[in-house]
Amino acid sequence: MTDTPLTANLRARPPGLHGAGDEYWGLAWAALEWLERNVEEGMQTLETGSGSSTIVFAAKGADHVAVTPDPSEEKRIRGQCELLGISSERVTFRIGPSHEVLPALEPRPLDIVLVDGAHGFPYPALDWWFLAPQLKVGGRMLIDDAYMPPVGALVDSLRAQPAWQIDETVGHRTVVVRKIAEGLPSFDWGGERVGGRMNFRYLPAAERGVAAVRHRVFSSRLGLRAVGVARRGSGLRWRKSG
Ligand SMILES: C[S@@+](CC[C@H](N)C(=O)[O-])C[C@H]1O[C@@H](n2cnc3c(N)ncnc32)[C@H](O)[C@@H]1O
Repeated sequence: MTDTPLTANLRARPPGLHGAGDEYWGLAWAALEWLERNVEEGMQTLETGSGSSTIVFAAKGADHVAVTPDPSEEKRIRGQCELLGISSERVTFRIGPSHEVLPALEPRPLDIVLVDGAHGFPYPALDWWFLAPQLKVGGRMLIDDAYMPPVGALVDSLRAQPAWQIDETVGHRTVVVRKIAEGLPSFDWGGERVGGRMNFRYLPAAERGVAAVRHRVFSSRLGLRAVGVARRGSGLRWRKSG
C-alpha cells in the first residue's frame, strides 16, 4: 500500500468490482472516507452489498461480514485487496440476497453496519429490521442513497423512533444513524412523514381530492367531535384510521 489514504487511492483508480468487472458502484467518496476514519481494528462490522467499502473494512482490520448475491464480487474484492497489500482474512462473504442471508446469520454484537445492498422496496427496511437487534446500543448504521424513496422512508421512520437518532449526514447521499436504546418501532402510525406527507395517490385521480378533503375535515378536532356525536350510542369505540 502507498502512504496515500485508501479512499484517495481508490478514487484515483476506481477498481472494476461490480457488474461484469468493469463497473464501479461505490459509496460516495465522503462516505468511504467516513468509514476509513471511523472503523477501528477489531470492530465487529457488517454491510449489505460489497465493493470499495469492503476493502476499507478489510484495511482497517474489522471482523467484517459482507452480504452480496454476486460471488464474483468476492473474487474481485479479494483480488483488489491483494493488489493493494491489504489482508482480507478477517472479511467473510455471505453469498445470497440479504433478505435470505441475514435472518440465517449467527447474531453477534455489531459496532458499525453499512446498508447499501438492494435499494428497492422493502429491502433497505428489511436490512435494518434484521440488523437493528444486532447493533450495539451506541453503534452506528450508515444508510446509503437516502434520496431514494425506499431508503428515505427508512430514514424518516428512524427519525421518529425514540431508540434511534440521526447522527450526521455524510456527503449528500449517506445518513449515519445511531442506536441509542433497544426497542421496537411503535405499532401505530403517529403522523410521522414516512415516505412523504399523507397522500391519497393510490386512488383514481378523480377521487383523490374528495378523499383528501373528507379525511382532513373528519380528522380535525371539530370533525372528530362531530363524528363522535353522530356515532354515540353505537357501542363501538372509534380510532382515527390514518
Ligand atoms: C451500490 S453497490 C454497493 C457498493 C459498495 N458499498 C461500495 O462501496 O462499493 C450495491 C451492492 O448490493 C449488492 N446487492 C444487490 N442486490 C442485493 C441483495 N438482494 N442483497 C444484498 N446485496 C445486494 C450488489 O451486488 C452490490 O454489491
